[in-house]
Amino acid sequence: MIHYSNPPVLLRDVIEDVGDVVRLLERNAPYTPLGGWYRPGADLDEPTSAMWFQNDWVHADLRVEGSELFLFHERVTQAARDFYDAEVIVPHSVYVNCMAAIDKGGPAHTDNPRFHGRDRSNTPMWLLRTMLWSGLFDRYAIVQATSIWWMNDVEGGGLLYWPDGPDQPPHEHVGDMANTALIGDNHGMFHQVAPVGPFDQGTRLVTPRAELAPAVDGSGEWAVTDRGEVRYQAPLDQYRVSVLWKADVYRNEEEQLQRMAETLSIPDVARIFDRDLEEKGADVRFDRFDVDRLEDPSLIAAVNAVYPEAVPLGKRQSIFDAVS
Ligand SMILES: [Fe+2]
Repeated sequence: MIHYSNPPVLLRDVIEDVGDVVRLLERNAPYTPLGGWYRPGADLDEPTSAMWFQNDWVHADLRVEGSELFLFHERVTQAARDFYDAEVIVPHSVYVNCMAAIDKGGPAHTDNPRFHGRDRSNTPMWLLRTMLWSGLFDRYAIVQATSIWWMNDVEGGGLLYWPDGPDQPPHEHVGDMANTALIGDNHGMFHQVAPVGPFDQGTRLVTPRAELAPAVDGSGEWAVTDRGEVRYQAPLDQYRVSVLWKADVYRNEEEQLQRMAETLSIPDVARIFDRDLEEKGADVRFDRFDVDRLEDPSLIAAVNAVYPEAVPLGKRQSIFDAVS
C-alpha cells in the first residue's frame, strides 16, 4: 500500500504559455454551473446556483483538443511520481472550474474515493465514502494523485488545505497563485476553496441554466448569461480559473497488475464491514439488508454512526451549507 500523508508539493511557472489555456477555455465554452451530487433535483428556473462553473476536459470517454497540455504535463507527472515514490502514473481526468462572486467557501471535503471494482458507476457515494473512512478497504483503494493549477490571482480565491490532518488547523495557498500548481493527495487530505471576489454584492446567484462564455460585445471579457440576460461580465483574469488533474498511481507495473486483478464485489464489501461491525460490538449488519436496499436511510445512519467522517478543524462556512 502506498502511504500518502505528505503535504502537497507546490510548482511554479507551470504552463509555458498561458495563452494556450485561454484558447482551450475559449474553444470549450460555454461553462455550466456545478451540479452533481451536492445539489440533486435543483429547480432549473430558480436562481440557486453560485457562479461556480465546471466542465470536463478529459474523462473516460472524452479528451478535448489541447487538453494534453494538462493531461501529460511532464513536471506535474514527475511531481506525482516523487510524491508517491511511484513509477506508474496513469492520468485520467482533467476538468476546469471558473468562479466569481462567491462570498462563502466551497465545501471542506476530501475527493470521492474509488476502489478496484467499486466506484460511482456501481456503488452509492455514501458507501464509497464510508469504505474510505472505515479504513477497512485500503488494499483495494485506487490511489489517485491530484494537481490543482490556477490561472490568475483574484480577490480572495485561496485554497485551504489540511496537510497535518483534519484535527490540526489548515494551511492556505493564497495570493501569488497565478500559474502555480499544488500536487498531492486530495482524496486523503481535506481541502476547501476560500471565498472568491468580487465581494461587493455577496454571492451572486444564477439559475442552473446559466452559461459562462466569451462576451459577444467585442470587449474581450467573459460574460455569465442566464435565460437570455447577461448577469455578470468581467475580464477573464478576474475569474478564479483552476484546472484539476487526476491520475491513478501504482508503485510499479507488478503492483498495478496485482491490484487491478483484485476487485471488490458488494457481497465482499458487506462481509468485510460485517466482520468489523461484529468486532466493534455494533448492532447493524449489512447482510440483513438486501443489496438493492443500500439506500435504506436506517442502514446509512447506523453505519455512518460507527464510521463517522472527520470534520476538519477551522473549516469555513460553505455556500452548500445554506442551499443544499
Ligand atoms: Fe476536491
